[in-house]
Amino acid sequence: MSIDFGTDIYEEPIVAKTFLQEDAQEGSLRPKTLREYIGQKKAKDNLAVFIEAAKKRGESLDHVLLHGPPGLGKTTLAGIIAQEMGVNIRITSGPAIEKAGDLAALLTNLNENDILFVDEIHRLNRAVEEILYPAMEDYAIDIIIGKGPSANSIRLDLPHFTLIGATTRAGQLSAPLRDRFGVTLRLELYTPEELGGIVTRSAGILDVAIEPEGAAEIARRSRGTPRIANRMLRRVRDFAEVRADGVITRAVADEALRALEIDYLGLDPIDRRMLSAIIENYGGGPVGLETLAATIGEESVTLEDVYEPYLMQLGFLTRTPRGRCVTRKAYEHLGLSAPSGMADGSEQLSL
Ligand code: ADE
Repeated sequence: MSIDFGTDIYEEPIVAKTFLQEDAQEGSLRPKTLREYIGQKKAKDNLAVFIEAAKKRGESLDHVLLHGPPGLGKTTLAGIIAQEMGVNIRITSGPAIEKAGDLAALLTNLNENDILFVDEIHRLNRAVEEILYPAMEDYAIDIIIGKGPSANSIRLDLPHFTLIGATTRAGQLSAPLRDRFGVTLRLELYTPEELGGIVTRSAGILDVAIEPEGAAEIARRSRGTPRIANRMLRRVRDFAEVRADGVITRAVADEALRALEIDYLGLDPIDRRMLSAIIENYGGGPVGLETLAATIGEESVTLEDVYEPYLMQLGFLTRTPRGRCVTRKAYEHLGLSAPSGMADGSEQLSL
């Protein structure tokens, strides 16, 4: 089995939605089998059945769509599926496939039952997407040879392959593409207990001593996201080695995360700016996403994909038909008093 992580590297903070260089190096932290993979029980249980059935029939696995917020392990899960199926995986992303020919080259180089993983599949362009339809459905692509009246189309057979698509926004996928996936799995934010297990496992692999309370502190502040938990673990390890005796205790984790301006619930300065802006500039909301993004100088997709899922899970933010609103809990978290008679948010329509 070979894994080709053709990933872009960006410089971004702990909550960054993209891969950082150190994430790319974390190959060793990624679980390789379903048994090692912590959390996402529903997705894992279903996948185990589909993988076993495909293997029994000696067929390729049906095409799989993975969706959910960034950092929850969509790429990791694709690698695990390849490992469990005993096939190769080729990793690419929607924006990286610029032309129909790029996709044709990828597809014709696959072996029987191999996996093609396309991250950010909602960002494929139209021409490329249209090549994908017959490829997914009939394992064939139509190639046009020549131009004008003498142009000819020839059909090229492909190996039976599995497309694994990953997206943070299933709603942005076109219906024809969405319909061609036999399996759709939604990944959910992890519980603090699951994240505690992931941090403890990662600390073991990195050979860092960690107390259960230290792991729990990192878990509680990593906003439901393993990628963030593993980034925090590395920064906390730095503090443990420089300011303490190398052991990650609750106190060391707290000191490190405070220094990184991550509060006791895992909110960072951008989360707090979002909530404060809604309160101070828009009376608690509603305010439209684009307006809010412009107010605090962030991109609306970042707010929507990276920040909102966790703020909504905490019950600090709601989406209403007229825009984003903060709840009483958000005022309280920021140490502000909520307007009297303010709803606690639970009765607002969540879209
Ligand atoms: N590292 C990142 N995600 C993980 C997961 N779900 N289980 C175990 N280790 C992980």
